[in-house]
Amino acid sequence: MRGLKIAPMEEGHLDRLAQLEALCFSQPWSRQALAEELGNPCACFFTALAQGQVAGYAGAHFAGGEFYMDNLAVFPDYRRQGVGRALVQALVGFAKENGGEFLTLEVRPSNAYALALYGGLGFRAVGRRRGFYTRPVEDALLLRLDFV
Ligand SMILES: CC(C)(COP(=O)(O)OP(=O)(O)OC[C@H]1O[C@@H](n2cnc3c(N)ncnc32)[C@H](O)[C@@H]1OP(=O)(O)O)[C@@H](O)C(=O)NCCC(=O)NCCS
Repeated sequence: MRGLKIAPMEEGHLDRLAQLEALCFSQPWSRQALAEELGNPCACFFTALAQGQVAGYAGAHFAGGEFYMDNLAVFPDYRRQGVGRALVQALVGFAKENGGEFLTLEVRPSNAYALALYGGLGFRAVGRRRGFYTRPVEDALLLRLDFV
């Protein structure tokens, strides 16, 4: 997408990102939960900006070489233009530059779009967490991307 920039998440992005969470998920992260990640030395959150407007975001936590992606969401108007892929690639780049060995995430088996995105980046299913999600109840697939 032209004019797409992936930047560290900032205070000024949080109102829109809290709206995005509420739009996408049945148990959304609040603005306060997002704000707490701004000062977290074990977290990495990126915002996608399209012509300066908040288009989406992704975030991960890490400990040692293990990185775990908590969130990925893109506003409907900006979907299918490579924004989600660019956000995950930014997290992967950050992880590799900071001693990451692998990145894991959970995803609903019914989320075909997200599964296609992750599969295209080389993630593979390594497990299933029974009844992980609520509203609606669903298992989670555990996906993993190894860097070494
Ligand atoms: C999943 C989501 C983040 C994808 O974001 P996006 O910016 O639209 O994704 P991209 O444009 O980067 O697409 C990357 C790949 O994902 C797959 N994909 C994404 N959206 C798709 C769609 N609507 N139909 C088919 N494939 C799709 C395709 O393989 C695509 O590659 P291609 O365009 O080269 O074919 C977005 O749909 C979203 O925010 N969904 C709601 C929140 C969510 O489900 N988050 C993930 C939680 S695990």
